[in-house]
Amino acid sequence: MSAQKTKQGKKTKEGKKAKKEKDDGLIRFKINGQPVQAREGWTILETARQNGVKIPTLCFHPAVEAIGSCRLCVVEIQQNGHTRVAASCITPVQGGVDVLTDSEEVQNVRRWVLEMLLAHCPASHQIRELAKEYGVTSTRFKTEHPEDACPRCGLCVRACDEIVGIRAISLGNRGVFKEVTAPYHQRSADCIRCGTCLYICPTGAMEQLFPQVSAP
Ligand code: SF4
Ligand code: FES
Repeated sequence: MSAQKTKQGKKTKEGKKAKKEKDDGLIRFKINGQPVQAREGWTILETARQNGVKIPTLCFHPAVEAIGSCRLCVVEIQQNGHTRVAASCITPVQGGVDVLTDSEEVQNVRRWVLEMLLAHCPASHQIRELAKEYGVTSTRFKTEHPEDACPRCGLCVRACDEIVGIRAISLGNRGVFKEVTAPYHQRSADCIRCGTCLYICPTGAMEQLFPQVSAP
């Protein structure tokens, strides 16, 4: 077989492979240098989990809509020599990029988030354990409320709305005054005491809040 024929044969094979890849509707990219495939609309977090790659999360739960508020799940996305950091739970997959889940940049952001969480929710055993897992045992930020265990992630509120369909609780006020509350700061008459908010809360804060917001 001539060298030209071999080259042409290879070319055709590669062309067929490329066409097949284009037609199968899958999105191809890399996570930590390993090739992965995902369906259109999947998030980076979803794909990482499908491939056994661990990314920490706090405000995410697969049963409710992701809002990307805590930034704990950040990853670094590299493309054409450019790098950006994004919350993996709300960032859709994109072909050709290289995602790093544990780079120095990612570790810095994650440590910063965990330090903020330690300062704002010092009463949460779960947050202290999560921070410890990532080597964060102290914080340079000021603690205003030592009894607070709630980072206002809103999972309880979204679960009550999207899973139970009740909306017995909501996130009231803004900024530093934001809080999980029931209408008029009364115990919610709509609450059916199903305990979904207790189950989904990642910090244990709902155990303290439940008697204040649930049905009398
Ligand atoms: S009570 Fe729990 S689930 Fe609700 S906002 Fe606070 S930490 Fe999140
Ligand atoms: S888990 Fe993604 S931003 Fe909170």
